[in-house]
This record gives sequence, C-alpha cells and structure tokens, in this order.
Amino acid sequence: AELGFDAEAAEKGGFEHFMLKEIHEQPDALRNAIRGRLDFNLGSSVLSGMGTSARDLAEISRVVMVGCGTSLHAGLVGEYAFEDLADVHAEVQQAAEFRYRNPLITRSDLVVAISQSGETADTLAAVREANQKGAFVMGLCNVVGSTIARETGRGVYLHAGPEISVASTKAFTCQVAVLLMMAVKLGRGRRFSRDEGIRLAREIESLPELVEKTVRQSDKIAGVAQRYAQNEHAFFIGRGYLYPVALEGALKLKEISYIHAEGYHAAELKHGPIALLEEGTPVVALAIDIAGKDKTLGNVEECRARGARILGVVTEGDEEAAAFMDDVIEVPRCHPLVATIPTAVALQLLSYHIARHRGCDIDQPRNLAKSVTVE
Ligand code: G6P
Repeated sequence: AELGFDAEAAEKGGFEHFMLKEIHEQPDALRNAIRGRLDFNLGSSVLSGMGTSARDLAEISRVVMVGCGTSLHAGLVGEYAFEDLADVHAEVQQAAEFRYRNPLITRSDLVVAISQSGETADTLAAVREANQKGAFVMGLCNVVGSTIARETGRGVYLHAGPEISVASTKAFTCQVAVLLMMAVKLGRGRRFSRDEGIRLAREIESLPELVEKTVRQSDKIAGVAQRYAQNEHAFFIGRGYLYPVALEGALKLKEISYIHAEGYHAAELKHGPIALLEEGTPVVALAIDIAGKDKTLGNVEECRARGARILGVVTEGDEEAAAFMDDVIEVPRCHPLVATIPTAVALQLLSYHIARHRGCDIDQPRNLAKSVTVE
C-alpha cells in the first residue's frame, strides 16, 4: 500500500490531540512569552508594547481586566498579583458585563483586555467602551494583528504560538506569566526594591522548568484520571492564588469531558455546595504548600466527613498534605507567585486524561467554538 501522509497527524507532532500537544508545548511557549522581558539589572520587566512612560505608570490608580472564559480566569490570577506586588487596586470583569453596566472608568484606569484570539466579540466591545471613556487601554493577545490587538493599539503579545484546541491551555499559562510581569513592572516603581524585583524575575524565569517537571507527570496523572472518569460531578476548591485556578480547572473539565464540575473558593463550599456531597463525590483540592494550605486542608476534612473522594494537588514531597487525600497529583515546590501555573498545568492534564478515558472529542468539544465572535 501507498504510504499515507496524514497532514493532521503531522501537525499534531505525534500527539493524539492538539490539546495534549499544546499542553506539552507550554515550557517553550512560556520561554517565548518571557524571553527578553525580564530585567535582572533593574529587577523589573521590559514590556515595551505597553507604551507606558514612568509617569504613565505612576498615574495608574486601578487596573481593570476584562475577558471571557479562560482569559477571564487568567485575569483573576492577575488581580491577586497586581494587588500583592504593585499595591494597585485591581479587578476583573466579565467583558460583556463591563460593556453593559456603564462602568466607572477614568483616565487613571488601566484597562487590560485579555484574549487569546483577539476576536472575542464581548471583549472587543469592552475595549471600545473603555476607549470611549478615555481609559488607558491595553491588549493582552496571542494572535498578532487581531482586532483587539489593533484596536487597543498597545499591549503585550503572548508569543505562545498558534492554539488549535478549543480548550485553551498554553494561552492561559502565558497570559498569567505576562500578567505577573506586568505586575512586577508596576510594582517596581511602587512597592518593592530592586533586590526583590530581581528575586521575582528569577521566579518567573523558572516557570518553563517548573512546567516541564509538571508535564512529566502526565502518565501518572492519566492513572489518577482513570479513577475519576466515571463520575458525573466534581468540585474544585482552592483559596488565594489557587482560587482562580480551581475555577479554571472546573471549566477545563466541563469543556472537554462534559462532567458537571464546579469551582469554589475552599471556604465557600460549606455555604451551600457541601449539601451536594455524597459518598464518592470527587473534590479536587488545591492544597499546594503556600499560604492558606492549612485552611484548605481543614475544608478537605469537612468534605471527607461527608464521604467525598478527595483528589489533592499537593507540593512534591508534602507528606502532611498527601495524608489528607485519597489520590494525589504532585507539582514541584515553587514560589506562591508562580505556583498557579504548574498547578493549572496539572489540572489541564487531569481534564485531558479524564476526557480521553471517556472517549470525548477533545479538540472539538460539542457546542463550543475556539473564538466566539457574536455577543
Ligand atoms: C471561547 C473559547 C474559550 C476561550 C474564550 C475566550 O469561549 O471556547 O476557550 O477562553 O472563548 O477566548 P479569547 O480568544 O478571547 O481568549
């Protein structure tokens, strides 16, 4: 027989799905997103596309991030980073909500539109609204020359490379990395010293390696995933920086496996959702070794007492946390600032392997589109 050349298989570079390929591309994608953007001399970051002078930066009194879906979740991580590192008020708004609520926007607001495609209709409408109100508007896009990138006129490209899978993976982690660099840039002038800036830059620089180590867990995670693939419901809990990661983990799972998954702040579970826990209901607890871990472990106990089956995402070698869990996924030890990224990667792999066990159409989930250009 003639040797068949399957163009799509070639594009997938030996991976079964684009999603898996893109998960594995993350160390390189992050390298590209970070390259040339960390200043180890000044302890800051160089994001020339932001087009901000030192004076502009000093005048920013609030950062408002807008986006949809996974991009919205990246913004939620950014919110913590801007407040922690830069002492600047930060908030995230669903782009459509921003557009229609007559947002209070002034010239000292920095509005950051986060969009992988740069074409999402709601996010674009928010950009137009913010432009009209005279805010300092910026895009955080992956697709070069996309409508949002053009209409914002300034911003930062992710350089994550093309993302084909409908479920966003590498765009998310690169969005978070860029937001961290933006927060460092803002914070350097306001809050922390050069030495601290250098330390933070080193943490960000370590991201590709942290993610590489996490991706290497793929086979182990596949084994864990098999034990959860038959469930129809799941909860994801986390707090602090890990709260938005819980939301993103749940979104990823529902998108590709069609399992009903809910992300909650770990403290919020007992205010209602705990009523849904039955014998064996999966709860994915983000309990890596950063501030808030002990409290989350307390919440894990509450869930366990109701019969939940706990899948913990814990720091490598953290026996204490692992003892609370029925199953564990390990991520490498890292600074809280960057911990969201390897944790999110672990959850991408979890969703991927669960969906695969369920035989789902991973790259083209039903009812979803890669970019939503209608309101
Ligand atoms: C669609 C996709 C999501 C994505 C969202 C925002 O709903 O299915 O994966 O997060 O749009 O897309 P954007 O291109 O603006 O980041």
